[in-house]
Amino acid sequence: MLGKEIKVVAMIGAGWMGKQISSWVATKGYALRIYDISPEALKAAKEFVTQTVELTFMSPEDKGKLKKILEKITYHDKLAESVRDADLIIEAVPENLELKKKVFAEIDRFAPPHAIIATNSSSIPVSKIEDAVKRKDKVLNIHFYAPIYQRPMVDIMRGTQTSDETFETGKAWIESIDCVPLVVKKECLGFVFNRVWRAVKKECLKIWAGGYADFRDVDRGWRIFTGMNMGPFALMDAVGLDVVYDIEMSYYNESGNPDDKPPQALKDMIDRGELGMKTGKGFYDWKGSLDFTSPEFIKPKKK
Ligand SMILES: NC(=O)c1ccc[n+]([C@@H]2O[C@H](COP(=O)([O-])OP(=O)(O)OC[C@H]3O[C@@H](n4cnc5c(N)ncnc54)[C@H](O)[C@@H]3O)[C@@H](O)[C@H]2O)c1
Repeated sequence: MLGKEIKVVAMIGAGWMGKQISSWVATKGYALRIYDISPEALKAAKEFVTQTVELTFMSPEDKGKLKKILEKITYHDKLAESVRDADLIIEAVPENLELKKKVFAEIDRFAPPHAIIATNSSSIPVSKIEDAVKRKDKVLNIHFYAPIYQRPMVDIMRGTQTSDETFETGKAWIESIDCVPLVVKKECLGFVFNRVWRAVKKECLKIWAGGYADFRDVDRGWRIFTGMNMGPFALMDAVGLDVVYDIEMSYYNESGNPDDKPPQALKDMIDRGELGMKTGKGFYDWKGSLDFTSPEFIKPKKK
């Protein structure tokens, strides 16, 4: 069942997360508007979303369904156009408070009055962005975990004036796309599970940067301990080390505690262009290995 009152979803920012969220939401039957400021990113998103949807509905009996889904996705080079008929708008631009405020203000200006505006930010509470909009009762943190097909769970958190109706609509929408809502009861930096993951990341980076152990041993230990097939360093490579750094800096800027500052060695890797899977090198060398960011891996599973 579709979430209450939500029929059209707009995705603002179609990078690593925007592309995945778009593919997932499209396969669940929602009409989708996708916008990115970069023409290259928008083109790449179109290719990615089309391929993932095609891979999900590739059997001959799904032909009609596939056509209908693809027809409901539109791509836009103007934000105003992309949000004009949206009921829910999800922002996934880079992790920068001023940028997110600017984007929220623009969405607020052009979206219909009833529309909910959500941020997919990994570390910025929407309460810090809400001043940029008039509809303070209609804002949310809606935070996805990547890759969505492996981690179908979404944190949901209010701003200071978010109405119960907005919250319940958001929660019902998350359930409607077959994800588990992780409800934040009281504003919390890092939401529900991201806060747990953050503690893991922070300690792992300290062990590595402090020269206490080889990162591969940390990953080996994690894999044995949890039964997962990837350890924290491989996961950070998948997320993107620039994104990890920005997120850690958000925590540091919030607390001002030097212990929260990400290690310089991580910044050095970023400056060398070693951003993880997306550049072929991060902690691990991914060149020539399977591309876990490709549509083949990311495609949503058909129910
Ligand atoms: N990477 C992850 O695993 C992950 C997981 C959950 C949440 N997040 C959050 O999602 C957000 C996006 O992260 P990402 O990894 O997709 O980053 P990304 O760099 O891959 O994508 C960001 C996209 O936003 C576009 N953009 C920049 N300025 C814009 C603007 N003004 N208007 C529209 N588009 C604009 C860029 O062109 C780019 O395509 C961040 O807030 C991040 O914290 C990331």
